[in-house]
Amino acid sequence: MANLLPLILSFFFTSLFSLSSATDTLTKSHSLVDEPNGTTTTTTTTLVSNDGTFELGFFSPGSSSNRYLGIWYRNIPDTTVVWVANRQPPLKDDANFTTPSRLTINDEGSLVLLSPNGTVIWSPNTTVKSQSVSVVAQLLDSGNLVLRNEKDQVGGDEKYIWQSFDYPSDTFLPGMKIGWDLRRGINRELRAWKSWDDPSVGELRWGMVVGVTPELVMWKGEEEYYRSGPWNGLIFSGKTTPIFDLHFVSNQDELVYTSQLQNKSVITRVVLNGTTSYRQRYNWVEETKSWRLYSSVPRDNCDNYNLCGPYGNCVVNDSPPCQCLSGFEPKSPQNYNALDWTQGCVRSEMWSCGVKNRDGFRRFGGLKMPDTRKAWVNSSMTLEDCRMKCLANCSCTAYANLYVTGGGIGCLIWFGELIDLRVASTPGQDLYIRMATSETDAKRHKKMVGIVVIAVAVPLAVLALLAFACTHWRKRKRRVDTEKTSIENNNKDEQEDLDLPLYDLATIVHATNDFSNDLKLGQGGFGPVYKGILADGQEIAIKRLSRSSGQGIKEFKNEVSLCAKLQHRNLVKVLGCCTQGEEKMLIYEYMPNKSLDSFLFDSRQNEFLDWTRRFHIIFGIARGLLYLHQDSRLRIIHRDLKASNILLDAEMNPKISDFGMARMFGGDQIEGNTNRIAGTYGYMSPEYAIHGLFSIKSDVFSFGVLLLEIVSGKKNRGASYPNQGFNLIGQAWRLWKENHPLELVDGCLGEAFNISGALRCIQVGLLCVQVHPEDRPNMASVIVMLSSENVLPEPKEPGFLIEKIMVGEECASSGHQISSSTNEVTVTQLEAR
Ligand SMILES: *[C@@H]1O[C@H](CO)[C@@H](O)[C@H](O)[C@H]1NC(C)=O
Ligand SMILES: *[C@@H]1O[C@H](CO)[C@@H](O)[C@H](O)[C@H]1NC(C)=O
Ligand SMILES: *[C@@H]1O[C@H](CO)[C@@H](O)[C@H](O)[C@H]1NC(C)=O
Ligand SMILES: *[C@@H]1O[C@H](CO)[C@@H](O)[C@H](O)[C@H]1NC(C)=O
Ligand SMILES: *[C@@H]1O[C@H](CO)[C@@H](O)[C@H](O)[C@H]1NC(C)=O
Ligand SMILES: *[C@@H]1O[C@H](CO)[C@@H](O)[C@H](O)[C@H]1NC(C)=O
Ligand SMILES: *[C@@H]1O[C@H](CO)[C@@H](O)[C@H](O)[C@H]1NC(C)=O
Ligand SMILES: *[C@@H]1O[C@H](CO)[C@@H](O)[C@H](O)[C@H]1NC(C)=O
Repeated sequence: MANLLPLILSFFFTSLFSLSSATDTLTKSHSLVDEPNGTTTTTTTTLVSNDGTFELGFFSPGSSSNRYLGIWYRNIPDTTVVWVANRQPPLKDDANFTTPSRLTINDEGSLVLLSPNGTVIWSPNTTVKSQSVSVVAQLLDSGNLVLRNEKDQVGGDEKYIWQSFDYPSDTFLPGMKIGWDLRRGINRELRAWKSWDDPSVGELRWGMVVGVTPELVMWKGEEEYYRSGPWNGLIFSGKTTPIFDLHFVSNQDELVYTSQLQNKSVITRVVLNGTTSYRQRYNWVEETKSWRLYSSVPRDNCDNYNLCGPYGNCVVNDSPPCQCLSGFEPKSPQNYNALDWTQGCVRSEMWSCGVKNRDGFRRFGGLKMPDTRKAWVNSSMTLEDCRMKCLANCSCTAYANLYVTGGGIGCLIWFGELIDLRVASTPGQDLYIRMATSETDAKRHKKMVGIVVIAVAVPLAVLALLAFACTHWRKRKRRVDTEKTSIENNNKDEQEDLDLPLYDLATIVHATNDFSNDLKLGQGGFGPVYKGILADGQEIAIKRLSRSSGQGIKEFKNEVSLCAKLQHRNLVKVLGCCTQGEEKMLIYEYMPNKSLDSFLFDSRQNEFLDWTRRFHIIFGIARGLLYLHQDSRLRIIHRDLKASNILLDAEMNPKISDFGMARMFGGDQIEGNTNRIAGTYGYMSPEYAIHGLFSIKSDVFSFGVLLLEIVSGKKNRGASYPNQGFNLIGQAWRLWKENHPLELVDGCLGEAFNISGALRCIQVGLLCVQVHPEDRPNMASVIVMLSSENVLPEPKEPGFLIEKIMVGEECASSGHQISSSTNEVTVTQLEAR
């Protein structure tokens, strides 16, 4: 009885909510029409958030007569637009709005913005699978426009079909995120407007860079303009604020920066201002009814990226601001005096590496950490280990703690020149720079020379701030932790077992016309695959395990139990299974375009795979694999990734299939050993083929092979290459070393491919097929590498360059009996031990 009351209450409130929101949501039958209110530039009909803060409608910016769909504050007189749907192209209503533009939800359940002549000007490209789902659009109190199933009253990133917060314009609102959603492969960045009356994408950009350690960076055009400094556990080194909680979340699902308000009644926004090239935070002041500029970045000249050149320190209150760090002198004294600091500084006395007692470190306090592009991190090492690590490598120039939390932990070491240094405007960090012994701390103290404090401008106030900030930092840290745990818990809830529906044998026999040969789609490693049509017209694919196949009950159960738990748009969906007597079958969704190899390696079909499609396929496979590897509770190693296991749906979206070989692990375990080597030659990593060791990195190897195959249109094994005995990997490596890697690209593409994209793919492919698992990136990095412009590591010589060695000598010598005549079929090899 006691449980009943909350139930009734919640039912009551739910009904109330849906009643009151009925007028605030956009549905199929209720669309938003551009009917201007003569006196203002905005529309009369708008979609309003529940608390009345935000509204969505049509507007004309500045002096422009173009119409745009956007979100603005409802109660703030001068329309302050925070989001624009159709940044490009604009809408043009006719002079008297006789045929207005409209925002509506179409029959496919997608939001569409229609121009007066009925063409779709903008749409978030969503589709809803089931006809029975009725989709509504709602503007949340946060200013987030979401598309959701009418039945779901509460959302969350995973539930919403689409949300505008994933596609920010130029404004960062509380609750929004910047950075990577690794599960969905979305990178959220802000882009300024082109000008005050043109919302199309301008030059200024702000986003998350995932290097060795994540940072927020602003670009102007292609040029780096301002960097936050690396995440140091509390704040980006150099930033803090008392009004907002700044969170940095880094886990397997996301890598984001987000801010929450401490006082919910404060109205605040961060905008990338294209006119001034500043990122500005404005707060609304009710008394004066105006926006007040609260902060703006870059704050001063020293924030400009690398103003003072290598080893140059920027001290904002000094004139001129650039000074060489103590122990350094201008590389070109004339230029430096003429206020051209680009060449920076060099050491006054060179240090000699490797000779004992010839070099050491000097501590520089209160600095913003230099650019980490040429750095290395380890999050658990102590400062002392870090020092040793740096000392041991002659190219290491400096080290520091990665995080300032808990008295300092982790190791960040730099190679080469240190750039973008400044005296931090908030408590900075200690940086230890490598010097000749005579210049190091120890020596200087002994000599008792007057210590030149590099940070002349570090005022006592910094100490006060430090004390103040410490208390706040603790709080913040705790919040980040709670947030992480709650994210993980959510995942657990989602992962509850879904039972697979059982199909009845008679249904399948009927659907496949008694396993008619005409309906046979192909032959998998463990039996034939048929197409079937159910009585209701649904097309399905059926994998029928042959009794003689190697796949026994064990693999079947494995596949069934795995598939039941997996759902991702880049994994083939299993609809059910059928086990009756001797028969064991798996029922999949039907993929009209069959498998990737049927296009890729077919000289008549391969042209259909243009560069865009190839890249889309590569990216999709990477996302599917990331999901397998990093899914919160399970860690799944596919073990048999290859072109014929990638199926293509009607839109050529790739779906990974065939989980017969896959292994499921607990969250922590990352590698296993087997004496049952299974997989496909040409795709197997060295450690797996030779020692039976498999890990997520052996899947990465297979992915690398697949990637190279997709780029080149050739099989790793069996194709003939100019250099005797080389396989595709060997060929790719040879071309890479000889500096004409683009020759690898499939000839059928001609010139029609994206050069930098192809180079990037080839480089990522080579990194994935490195001999040592630890040299291969994980899938999260692969996704970031494929979708960013960051500089990639140089690949070393990959594994398995030559087909013969793999099949013949190495494997034979390790006791496996592998015959070189094996073809593209999955093999299961029992090792005699
Ligand atoms: C236009 O908007 C103004 C201010 O919101 C309002 O006072 C006026 O009545 C509206 N006019 C029409 C025609 O709706
Ligand atoms: C718009 O309306 C004005 C006055 O109502 C009329 O003079 C004009 O011809 C109309 N223009 C069009 C394009 O319909
Ligand atoms: C419809 O309008 C859009 C933009 O207003 C324009 O680009 C397109 O050419 C028009 N289509 C037709 C068929 O008039
Ligand atoms: C939707 O897809 C079309 C075609 O693929 C693309 O041009 C458009 O930019 C996409 N729209 C959005 C909002 O992503
Ligand atoms: C929150 O902000 C409002 C408006 O600025 C102010 O009146 C109120 O006192 C603040 N509340 C707290 C708890 O700081
Ligand atoms: C850009 O900055 C200028 C000057 O501070 C200000 O007048 C203007 O409103 C800002 N633009 C935006 C989009 O906030
Ligand atoms: C980081 O350092 C610790 C301690 O030296 C070591 O155990 C760990 O393997 C290192 N991690 C990485 C990723 O190098
Ligand atoms: C020093 O570090 C660089 C960069 O990571 C690396 O390439 C080089 O092999 C290292 N040298 C030694 C001796 O460890």
